Amino acid sequence: MTPTLRPVLSQLPAYVPGRSVAGAIKLASNETPYPPLPYVVSRIAEAAADANRYPDTNSTAVVQALAAKYGVAAERVKVGCGSVSLCTQLVQAVADADEEVIYAWRSFEAYPIIAAVSGASSVQVPLTDGHVHDLDAMLERITGKTRLIFVCNPNNPTGTTVGRDALVRFLRAVPPDVVVALDEAYREFVTDADVPDGLTLLDEFPNVVVLRTFSKAYGLAGLRVGYAIAGDPAVATAIAQTQVPFAVTTVAQAAALASLEPEAERELMQRVAGIVAERSRVHAALLDLGYPVPPSQANFVWLPLGDRTVEWAAGCEQRGVVVRGFAGSGVRVTVSSPEENDRFLAAAADLRG
Ligand SMILES: Cc1ncc(COP(=O)(O)O)c(C=O)c1O
Repeated sequence: MTPTLRPVLSQLPAYVPGRSVAGAIKLASNETPYPPLPYVVSRIAEAAADANRYPDTNSTAVVQALAAKYGVAAERVKVGCGSVSLCTQLVQAVADADEEVIYAWRSFEAYPIIAAVSGASSVQVPLTDGHVHDLDAMLERITGKTRLIFVCNPNNPTGTTVGRDALVRFLRAVPPDVVVALDEAYREFVTDADVPDGLTLLDEFPNVVVLRTFSKAYGLAGLRVGYAIAGDPAVATAIAQTQVPFAVTTVAQAAALASLEPEAERELMQRVAGIVAERSRVHAALLDLGYPVPPSQANFVWLPLGDRTVEWAAGCEQRGVVVRGFAGSGVRVTVSSPEENDRFLAAAADLRG
């Protein structure tokens, strides 16, 4: 006899982390290429000296700093072990077995896993031909069993966005008892003024919760800190109820807090501006090479290569560049430093079909 496991586990898609290959550059996980600021590292080191103590399970100082930064009540802010953990907590907070979670597909590859593990049913709504959320089609899939809708804006892996008018129209049509998670993991990279800051929608739509992270723009992917800001404090409380105790370490809290200090944040946002400038350059270069890359508002670009995907991603790897291929669909490539982007563009030029 072997131990009995839940049958759902054998059907789960595996979460495929971006691979690290010795000697190659990694453009597969949407990380920043730059290490944490020296000041942040020093605060991390100080916090490490307290590692014999459990962390503050409520991440109180980080919650307060975020509440002050965004001008929202602290009771609406929750900090989690990466925003992927907050996605999980949210599903567990709102969906019982066989209730439904709607999201676009293709989108963040953790959504199907999170829904399946929690016992909820996934309703995947294909992106439009332009690789954008099809909000009308998503509305049509709402039923009495729908508990949560993820809108990933900008969308991972396509980098595409939904604009304010379309999103507001959508939110007005969603029943107010259905929670909408605006996953804004890449918000800091958005430069298009038409892409709404989810936080500006919370007053009109209390069923909305905005999810953000310190992993991307703030360069703390390895420490795991994300946050949720909910329109309704009851949703924030529910997220806290489904958190694993002590999920955010003292070191992670210290790093997030240090990164929010005005001088550190200014420097980090200058780095973001550099990535955004590189995004324009990489996008234009790929278009020149004949790749039909949709406009991106994130720190990555999407090459919809369909059946060529696996071979093309392997070709990049042979040229020392690890990218993220989604078989049969396309390749996502993180925008990095100018030198690393040049290496990628050289590979893309070689691999032109
Ligand atoms: C859309 C989206 N949401 C959430 C996450 C999770 O980020 P983290 O758990 O590192 O905060 C990612 C990471 O890749 C993402 O792309």
